[in-house]
Amino acid sequence: MQTNVRDEIAALLRWYVEQGLDETIGEEPVDRFALPPPAPVAVAVGAPEKATPRVTPAAPVPVAIPRPTSPSLPPRAPVPLESPQLVEDARALARNCGSVAELEAAIRAFEGCALKRTAKNTVFADGIAGAPVMVIGEAPGADEDRQGKPFVGVSGQLMDRMFDAIGMNRQRDLYITNIIFWRPPGNRTPTPAEQAICLAFTRRHIELARPKVLVLAGGTSAKAILDTTEGIMRLRGKWMPVQLDDGSAVPALPTFHPAYLLRTPASKRQSWIDLLAVDKRLRELGVR
Ligand code: URA
Repeated sequence: MQTNVRDEIAALLRWYVEQGLDETIGEEPVDRFALPPPAPVAVAVGAPEKATPRVTPAAPVPVAIPRPTSPSLPPRAPVPLESPQLVEDARALARNCGSVAELEAAIRAFEGCALKRTAKNTVFADGIAGAPVMVIGEAPGADEDRQGKPFVGVSGQLMDRMFDAIGMNRQRDLYITNIIFWRPPGNRTPTPAEQAICLAFTRRHIELARPKVLVLAGGTSAKAILDTTEGIMRLRGKWMPVQLDDGSAVPALPTFHPAYLLRTPASKRQSWIDLLAVDKRLRELGVR
């Protein structure tokens, strides 16, 4: 490819990122204006059986996941799930857990997420349950899968050094987990269905660990926990309340994923600002 064409493409991609388009969702572009309008699939609750539109098994059923979120954020569209029942199962199991230890046991015994079949280990959490800061990343990578602990690879080591710079560590101040408990093959982004299943547990995890603040590492985690389509470029550095099902709320700060910082060291400056904001918030809460 000629240099000037490559430069133009790089400039276009940079512009996309600046506009908040920081993820691709397919290999090929789709001209949605050229597509025929979608067939209506709404099912009238309580309607007589023959009036109910037929949904072929291949069509995933959109499921609205009741996740209260910040009113200032654009909500995600209902997630098309192959098996909404699995999300319900996960939610019911999670609700029945009265402690972090019970939740961990329930997740380890859970067979409803296909990622478990290809993973070596369930990666639950590291650090101190009940610590003031709960960090939530995306999903285990190869090192985490091997060791069964979150953020132990190079990006996790960078995260440790960053928290160390504000005097915080896993042995005392941090509780670290991911929205996904099993490594996605090839480190691909977890599907909406995988996210919805694991999120049922993660939301209960937050309720049971009762952190003072959440740090959401990366766009996938931030979008899932805050239930929004907004990209990390817009979300980072802004505190948002996460409303939990038990009625409590926790302030959450989206920040860049450490793997992104390894690729884009110039962004460390913004992450440092985020860390200082965490430190300040904890001092205001009287925790430090
Ligand atoms: N990336 C994550 O999001 N989580 C990990 O545990 C490791 C890498």
